[in-house]
Amino acid sequence: MSLSKCIGAAFAALVLSAPAFAQDYPARQITMVVPFSAGGPTDTVARMVADKMSTELGRQIIVENIGGAGGTLGAARVAKAEADGYTVLLHHIGMATSATLYRNLAYDTLNAFEYVGLVTEVPMVMVARKDFEPTDFAGFINYVKGNADRITMANAGIGAASHLCGMLFMSAIETPLVTVPYKGTGPAMTDLLGGQVDIMCDQTTNTAQQIKGGTIKAYVTTTPERLDVFPDLPTAGEAGLPGFEVSIWHGIYSPKGTPAEINERLSQALKFALADKDVIKSMADLGTEPSPAGDATPAALQAKLQSEIERWKPVIEAAGIYAD
Ligand code: MLT
Repeated sequence: MSLSKCIGAAFAALVLSAPAFAQDYPARQITMVVPFSAGGPTDTVARMVADKMSTELGRQIIVENIGGAGGTLGAARVAKAEADGYTVLLHHIGMATSATLYRNLAYDTLNAFEYVGLVTEVPMVMVARKDFEPTDFAGFINYVKGNADRITMANAGIGAASHLCGMLFMSAIETPLVTVPYKGTGPAMTDLLGGQVDIMCDQTTNTAQQIKGGTIKAYVTTTPERLDVFPDLPTAGEAGLPGFEVSIWHGIYSPKGTPAEINERLSQALKFALADKDVIKSMADLGTEPSPAGDATPAALQAKLQSEIERWKPVIEAAGIYAD
């Protein structure tokens, strides 16, 4: 048999082997679960890419917010969904940290999902209500350590990015703080703006506009280098806390058993969205950028999740912070 006939036969086998529903996918709207409240950073990223993915797919992607338990309730919802490509999850580093933080997780992180691709990696900033007294990060650390019993630090629950950053910060300054959990840092931001909570470590996708508008105070970024969007904001390393670094990668997942052809089709739509000039600009305005096309793939996300579970496991165990 000639090479072209071999290729043709292989392609025919692939197409014929796909379940019938995979061959006309997508035939109806798709639900993208965001495991945090509307209006927060995860929701912001999801709505950006869902809009453009819908264009490429020719079917609407509807974002559904299922907050609670640091993102694990929403992830559990998708783990149990039909593996037909019509329910996907957009989640972040919490997929990796929750695998260690939660000792009774409702799903097996590495066996309950299929992979679509990486979306973006978002920097974090340490912020405070606008009338918070310290004027620089050294003063911030001293003030927080000296008032640890009454400073309140917001987060989106154990497993959230804001929880992880807060945990790293408290470990770095060797000082436990009073933490206030929310179902997302969208509602947490409302309380920070109103002065009901004092500080928060959050992603630039939820803080950039407020920092630019002067309605909250920013002290440092948790990145190795300064951010183009905030060139005057020092890194934590520059400001006296080297090693206090964390950035928040985001990925899209489908339930275990979703056909590979569907995950590849979704990856193709994700790459289209990440190459869109409006998405690129919106992300830049919020201090982040799309993942490279080569990372918006099932294999790249699978490798990232596996490596990040291994990376954060000893850090979490050393901190001794768990959710039962
Ligand atoms: C987080 O802290 O994990 C996120 O900011 C939660 C959210 O997107 O609201």
